[in-house]
Amino acid sequence: MCQTNRGVTVWFTGLSGAGKTTVAVEVEKQLQKRNTRVQRLDGDIVRESLTSDLGFSKEDRNENIKRNTFVAKLLTKHDVVTLCSFISPYRSARDYARQEIEEVGEFVEVFVNPPLEVCEERDVKGLYQQARDGKIANFTGISDPYQAPENPDLELRTDQETLEESAQKVIDYLAEQNYI
Ligand code: ADX
Repeated sequence: MCQTNRGVTVWFTGLSGAGKTTVAVEVEKQLQKRNTRVQRLDGDIVRESLTSDLGFSKEDRNENIKRNTFVAKLLTKHDVVTLCSFISPYRSARDYARQEIEEVGEFVEVFVNPPLEVCEERDVKGLYQQARDGKIANFTGISDPYQAPENPDLELRTDQETLEESAQKVIDYLAEQNYI
């Protein structure tokens, strides 16, 4: 008998510049090639619309995660592979996302984990420099906390792996678990 997969949310967490978006975009491409229905939700994009009223206090970050969890849950419920890229620095907020989404489907926590120094060296958006110069307050990893996952389903060392390798690890994991 043909069994359809349940939906799944892949939750990428990690510092700014860790590679969350880059890996998610590559995973998205690979899934589209397989004709899998996929949707990305990304902090930088969603913060221009759905959560444009929010800043970076603990309360606002958690509200950001709460609203995006709501959207991810709907997508997951309809069997879309949902790729979420948010720093999501607080463990309790990520646990909330897992709890909500597991009511309707699967949840995979992916810790995108190059060392802080690598993120800072990359400084893709120039924000680390601004944080060091005191021009941005509450910057994750510099002047604001990041609570690393204790038991992530996957860890990606984007400083040691190629982009293709990191993305493949995600695809392989999803396939092994029969999520795709
Ligand atoms: S989260 O903490 O609420 O999960 P989210 O992933 O949506 O964060 O947004 C993070 C992005 O916002 C960063 O990649 C960066 O471009 C930008 N940003 C602006 N200010 C900050 C800050 N104080 N801390 C972290 N990221 C910031």
